[in-house]
Amino acid sequence: MVAEHSVKKNFSVTLRVWRQAGPNQPGKFVDYPATDISPDMSFLEMLDVVNDGLTKIGDEPIAFAHDCREGICGTCSCTINGKPHGPGKGIATCQVYMRSFGEGDVIVVEPFRARAFPLIKDLVTNREAFDKIQQAGGFISVRTGAAPDANSIPVPKEDADLAMDAASCIGCGACVAACKNASAMLFVAAKVSQLGLMPQGQPERDKRVLAMVKTMDEAGFGNCSNQYECSAVCPKLITHDFIARMNRDYLAALFRSNFKPVSGASDGGA
Ligand code: FES
Repeated sequence: MVAEHSVKKNFSVTLRVWRQAGPNQPGKFVDYPATDISPDMSFLEMLDVVNDGLTKIGDEPIAFAHDCREGICGTCSCTINGKPHGPGKGIATCQVYMRSFGEGDVIVVEPFRARAFPLIKDLVTNREAFDKIQQAGGFISVRTGAAPDANSIPVPKEDADLAMDAASCIGCGACVAACKNASAMLFVAAKVSQLGLMPQGQPERDKRVLAMVKTMDEAGFGNCSNQYECSAVCPKLITHDFIARMNRDYLAALFRSNFKPVSGASDGGA
C-alpha cells in the first residue's frame, strides 16, 4: 500500500532529474520546480506539466518512456527516490500518483541503471536485450489456423494459475534495475515458466531454457545471488520462486542434452 499524504490541495515539489543528452555525453542531476501539482495527477502527468513549462521557455523537455499509462506495457521505467517504479508495491511508474508525495519534497528521478540497458537519453534506456532473450526461445512453434478445442488439452489448475502468474510479466526491467548484479533472472524465469508449465510448451522446453539463459548471459546480465530485490520491486509481484523453477529446468535440460557445454550458461540463482 502506498504511504500517501493527506494532501487535498495542489502542492509543489522539486524534481531532481538525471539529464543526459546521449549515450556518450556526460550526465548530471538537474533540479526543476514542479508547482501547483494536483495530488490526483499521475507521476507521468506531472512530468508532462514540467515538460510543458520547459518547452515554453525553450529548454529541452525531459525524455522519458511511456505508452499505455495503465501498467500493462512495461515501457515506463525510471527509478524514483532510489526505487525502480518508485513508491508503492505492485505498480509501474505510470501508476504512481502525486498524492504519494508531500509539499516541498525533493523527488530524485533516474533511468534504470544496468550495463545491459544502455542509456539513450535522460530517463530512456535501451532494453532491446530483453527482446533478444524473448526471440531466443520465448515462443512455441505451432501450426496456426488449426487450433484444437481448448477442452481437449486438460491443464491442471495449479499449473494454469502459475503460468498466468508468470505471464503477467510486462518486461519492464525493474528486476534488473533493482538487482545489485543487474540480473535478469526473474524476467527470464517468468518467460521460461509461462510456456514450460503448459502442454503446448513441452516440445521445445529444453531448447527454450538453454537458449534463453545463454542469450541472457551473452547480453551482460549478472547472476542471481538470492537477495530477491527483483520480486520486491516487480510491478506484477512475480515471485522469485520462478527463478528456482528455471534453474531446475535449466539443469534438467543440460542433463538431457548430455552436458554439452552451453557457452556462457548461468550457474547462479535460487
Ligand atoms: S506506460 Fe505502460 S506500464 Fe507504464
